[in-house]
Amino acid sequence: MHHTVLDAAFVQDPYPLYARLRREAPVSRAVTATGLSVWLVTRYEDARAALADPRLSKDARRIREVLEIRGGVRVLDESIIEHMLNSDQPDHTRLRRLVGKAFTARRVEALRPRIEEISAGLLDGINPDSEIDLLTAYAFPLPITVICALLGIPDADHDAFRSWSNTIVTNSEPEEFERAQSGLVAYLVQLIDRKRREPGEDMLSALVAARDDGDQLSERELLAMVFLLLVAGHETTVNLIANGVLALLRHPDQMARLRADLGLLPSAVEEFLRYESPVNMATFRVTAEPVRIGEVEIPAEEVVLVSLGSANRDGDRYGDPDQLVIDRGLGGHLAFGHGIHYCLGAPLARLEAEIAFRDLLTRFGRIELAPGRELRWRDSQLMRGLVELPVRLTPAEVNAR
Ligand code: HEM
Repeated sequence: MHHTVLDAAFVQDPYPLYARLRREAPVSRAVTATGLSVWLVTRYEDARAALADPRLSKDARRIREVLEIRGGVRVLDESIIEHMLNSDQPDHTRLRRLVGKAFTARRVEALRPRIEEISAGLLDGINPDSEIDLLTAYAFPLPITVICALLGIPDADHDAFRSWSNTIVTNSEPEEFERAQSGLVAYLVQLIDRKRREPGEDMLSALVAARDDGDQLSERELLAMVFLLLVAGHETTVNLIANGVLALLRHPDQMARLRADLGLLPSAVEEFLRYESPVNMATFRVTAEPVRIGEVEIPAEEVVLVSLGSANRDGDRYGDPDQLVIDRGLGGHLAFGHGIHYCLGAPLARLEAEIAFRDLLTRFGRIELAPGRELRWRDSQLMRGLVELPVRLTPAEVNAR
């Protein structure tokens, strides 16, 4: 049996491999860049079923045991792993319920004016007619500022966070990883302590209260929850914005259509999610018993990676899957996952993206890739995001003249 290696070339362009696997070996063995043996699921129907299958466990302890036996992977510190994305029912239900209300479509919609203000503030700071890295200037700070505002984290701490979080999700050196992780944990412990002494109106204060008032949440679960919300808020929406901008730059006809009809924005955002899915692979799952997926029986205690990026380019589901078509109108992409772990932040991510694209397209009459710069993707099998997005912006007024 040939072994698929998720190497550096894969990180730069995973789609040729995905297309071949969907055709030839839709459920197959693979080895990650760090040497972990996994099963990779690449077809849409299989991926969707696998994401909702309770026999594919997300339990933190179970996953840790299997990973420790296999080696070849870095396991996060125990103090931050007990969160909803690392748990099965019934713990999952209890943990998700504690924050679920804050993320309903209605509660999120109420954040619109605040998000618009943050977006406008960032765009005001961009020197028009210049060449900039859109990631640093806009796509990163927008979602970070929003999630930090929601949780109640001081603006001054954002930069430290970006760096820790980046080190943790990319394939960094072990010492660097340890340093980032302990820096982050120490910071969170201190932050929780501060919210306990001086509670505010924010979500973190509410979680601390939930922890202290009843037995809904252990101290460890509280820490892990904050860690999860922060990392999820830091590492994902940024890629939706930047990947979407890049997709439009590479499909000028679609950019023109969207400019001509901003009513297409919601459907365009869904297409960005499908076309260049910000989360390339769903997080680790482990078979609690032998599980048949498609034609293949995966034994118990195996690590399964469900590729969202591949499922969303499956030609059996989407006609012309490698083309960006902003009014496809066919929903059901798996970019936010599926089943009980379906992304909690989806309404927030969608709203942020809609505001971001509206603002970028109305402020700048022209957006172009800066010439002569090679685009690189971040070294991660989990996330699909650019290292930099150098663009040239031309203000709308200038263009109209
Ligand atoms: C474009 C942006 C985003 C994308 C593509 C995305 C994607 C995903 C995916 C694929 C999952 C499921 C992972 C799995 O099953 O292995 C997930 C779960 C989750 N996401 Fe997001 N996410 C985004 C933004 C956010 C934001 C802004 C937040 C909020 C802070 C957030 C919070 C969460 C949480 C808490 C979970 C775990 C839910 C659970 O286990 O029940 N996400 N996300």
